[in-house]
Amino acid sequence: MYYLKGLSLLRKFKRFHSGSDNALRMLSEYVSYAEPGKGGNGQISDQERDELIKWVVRFKDLPGPIVEIGTLLGYSAQALCEGVLQSGVRKTIYTVDNYGWNPMGVQPYRHRMLTKLNLVLAKRLTDLVIVDSTAEDFYKSFKELPSFVFIDADHTYASVKKDLQFFKDIGSPVISGHDYNFPDVHRAVHEVLGEEGLEVFSGTLFLWTRP
Ligand SMILES: C[S@@+](CC[C@H](N)C(=O)[O-])C[C@H]1O[C@@H](n2cnc3c(N)ncnc32)[C@H](O)[C@@H]1O
Repeated sequence: MYYLKGLSLLRKFKRFHSGSDNALRMLSEYVSYAEPGKGGNGQISDQERDELIKWVVRFKDLPGPIVEIGTLLGYSAQALCEGVLQSGVRKTIYTVDNYGWNPMGVQPYRHRMLTKLNLVLAKRLTDLVIVDSTAEDFYKSFKELPSFVFIDADHTYASVKKDLQFFKDIGSPVISGHDYNFPDVHRAVHEVLGEEGLEVFSGTLFLWTRP
């Protein structure tokens, strides 16, 4: 009896582990490569996270949703949600990603799954919308005026410039982003937004408020 039960459990275990969607492997990939707070894995560090939360609280009274371009695994999206919760003001948070890049080198469908898993709680607690799209396609259909923008997607000069230009042109009052220390990002920020109204935190996060 016990032997048969054990055998059936063992079979289930084997089936679970031989599937292409090996949940345990996915989770260990996530834990080892994208441990929150480390920074340097493509996502913001703990210090940057704290600053981002403060910025969201600071601009809580501006009307309109929050938009993030570049979700990755949802670490900065969680910070945006945390800021909204702390501010006590209800706001929609859009986070956009095409799952084209991740530091673990996993396939886009697994990247998508990990991100969704990671954002389950934030989605329950806030009005978070996970947008599965390229930034370019998102811009074609997005018709709202965001109160706060966070740019952290493709870091090439042309791409950052396009992201910044889109939000500047639609009238976003506050545009922020990551990796200001990257020469391409730095150049795009200065060309599109200029120096007036620009603040920099730890050399890496930038915040521009419309003068
Ligand atoms: C540096 S990571 C974002 C890190 C995230 N903000 C964090 O701190 O947790 C960049 C992300 O942007 C996404 N990405 C790159 N180019 C994109 C594009 N054109 N449209 C949408 N997402 C893009 C990548 O798939 C990747 O997940």
